[in-house]
Amino acid sequence: MKEKKLVELSGTESQLIIEVGDFAEILHWGKKISGSLENFRSALHRPVPHGRLDKDVAMTTLPELGRGVFSSPGLEGHRNGQNWAPVFFLKDIQQSDTQISLASEDGQAGLQLVTEICLDEFDVVKTRHTLTNLKSGQYFVNRFANSMPLPVRVNELMTFHGRWAREFQTQRQPLLHNGYQQENRRGRTSHEHYPAMVAGTSNFDETQGDVWGFHFAWSGNHRLRADVKTDGRRTMQAEVIYFPGEVALEKGESISTPWLYASYSENGLNEMSHHFHSHVRQSIIAEDFQKKLRPVHLNTWEGIYFDHDPEYIMEMASQAAEMGVERFIIDDGWFRGRDDDTAALGDWFLDERKYPNGLEPVVDHVNALGMEFGLWFEPEMINKDSDLYREHPDWLLAVDGYDQPTGRHQHVIDLQNDDAFNFLYERLAHFLSTYNIRYIKWDMNREIVQPAHDGVASGRKQTERYYQLVDKVRAKFPHVSIESCAGGGGRIDYEILKRTDRFWPSDNNDALERQGIQRGMSYFFPPEVMGSHIGSDKCHCTRRRHSIEFRGLTALFGHMGIELDPVKEDSDEKANFARYVALHKQLRTLLHTGKMWRTPTDDNAHQVLSVVAEDQSEAVVMVAQLDMPTHSLSGNLRILGLDDKATYRIYVLDKPANYNDIVVFQPPWTEAGCELSGEWCKEVGLSMPLLDPETAMLIKVEKVN
Ligand code: GLA
Repeated sequence: MKEKKLVELSGTESQLIIEVGDFAEILHWGKKISGSLENFRSALHRPVPHGRLDKDVAMTTLPELGRGVFSSPGLEGHRNGQNWAPVFFLKDIQQSDTQISLASEDGQAGLQLVTEICLDEFDVVKTRHTLTNLKSGQYFVNRFANSMPLPVRVNELMTFHGRWAREFQTQRQPLLHNGYQQENRRGRTSHEHYPAMVAGTSNFDETQGDVWGFHFAWSGNHRLRADVKTDGRRTMQAEVIYFPGEVALEKGESISTPWLYASYSENGLNEMSHHFHSHVRQSIIAEDFQKKLRPVHLNTWEGIYFDHDPEYIMEMASQAAEMGVERFIIDDGWFRGRDDDTAALGDWFLDERKYPNGLEPVVDHVNALGMEFGLWFEPEMINKDSDLYREHPDWLLAVDGYDQPTGRHQHVIDLQNDDAFNFLYERLAHFLSTYNIRYIKWDMNREIVQPAHDGVASGRKQTERYYQLVDKVRAKFPHVSIESCAGGGGRIDYEILKRTDRFWPSDNNDALERQGIQRGMSYFFPPEVMGSHIGSDKCHCTRRRHSIEFRGLTALFGHMGIELDPVKEDSDEKANFARYVALHKQLRTLLHTGKMWRTPTDDNAHQVLSVVAEDQSEAVVMVAQLDMPTHSLSGNLRILGLDDKATYRIYVLDKPANYNDIVVFQPPWTEAGCELSGEWCKEVGLSMPLLDPETAMLIKVEKVN
């Protein structure tokens, strides 16, 4: 038995205290506490009750059945039926200020485990395990999970669910015995089970309560679990779901879990999001893209769908430029035989019937207007009605002998097939080196059923090969911005964000729906990675109509774009687009670098989002009226995150066209502006204007002294 000692990792507000001996156990993960580590240890020895094993059992970051842990183990595997309940002993600890690396071994089973735990200045923990097979003979891994302890006072969860066109919906539930589990088996991050959750003390909310947030950085199948054991201890667990037989380690081979990102906040969800947003900005998004201003998009999809005529597209581009658009993107429909969504995926050659003079004149035209040019791809997919499939029917990701259901008429390409992989890279590289393309929208429009390479399950490897394909493109074309899209928000997570820099959160451009989707997404992602487009007044997904003010302000709070055919819009509407594009440009540095606050309101019919500059010198606040106000007065609008002691000038930047017609009069501050302290704004607020359902207004806050 090794002598035990305590090691610690400190963030700015939070701390991890880990006991290491034969194994490592996290004893405290929460608020940073000053004092002697040794005294803490003596305070935490657990009693051993009757009716259980006769010794204390630790909950480690890799719970082991062999040590007497009866809840979900961290590793399940075997070597021909042997070595199926390994027990690891700590051999070596490497520690720096921000990271601990623990190497353990089970000599009998011939396995090595390395556990890395990092805690950064933004109070974000990231952790993963790596397992290596040290002995001859394959070691089959069935399950391999990251586990983190939660204190006993955690008894409530916020989880996410969704579907196509309705992503990032949140749900609250108690954490009880038998816990919570979500499984995503759809082969991509998925709309349904976004891989994140928040655990906290009773009734935690945006500004109050202890919360522990988790994000599992993986773009394939996963399982998340939060459990209450019979002894009351709580854990959170995250893992990739492996299909039978798909992970077999030869001697010397290793497998790593994805990174599990986690953060503790003692002040509720806003602060938790600030931690994650800062981490994403500093450590996840490639530096060059984080530093660059994000250009306003015009995407052709909802404007013309598959109906491509280069002359017309150039007219769309001219009009987009007049509205202030900075990046013009040709979406689906430009490649050989792609006249609808039943054919041609895989045939990544320009459709010369539609573009008889090539793509160059269009790219040149877009560039001459001062805009960047972007193009849509869906590289991992193939239609059976394509030349590629006719030539390479064996490139399908499938199990021979079974007929797979299609999704949007398409199938998936086996990326473990090197010829297929190289073909896709070559096609992407061809376009990126032939034309001045500065952005690609990388789509993935179907779920994966029975992924297999040579008959062997390959869910995990397909995801890893997808990362390798994006990495290869990134390495060769580092200046090209990549948006991750999967039928809207089906592939949004931190691992793909390391190699892309924008997400398409939803195919739903309905401003009312987007208010909810973007709010849900904001728990783990800052506004600048959320593609947010103004669609036409009648939404293509919901058939609902919204005013330009509501659409414009909703799109403002992300990375803005326009998704329609400007040629078909009348001059008033075009002037309105130009107005919101200009407003976005005026505010984007603030929106894309500041701290976002979701302000609790007195009435759920309102949603208030604000972004406050890091130095607290200014802020912008969006008040969205989602529904009919519950009462005839709407209470007070509070503004969070300002400097308590400073005085701010507060004025309205944008409001609905009928603003003054719907009441006898609106609060006078909304006409004349006013000056208030940051403390007043936070504690008391300003009288909330009355708004019609499905409208919004925008307020600017500027420090005067
Ligand atoms: C997906 C995307 C859309 C669009 C279409 C094109 O649905 O989410 O934005 O690119 O594919 O087929």
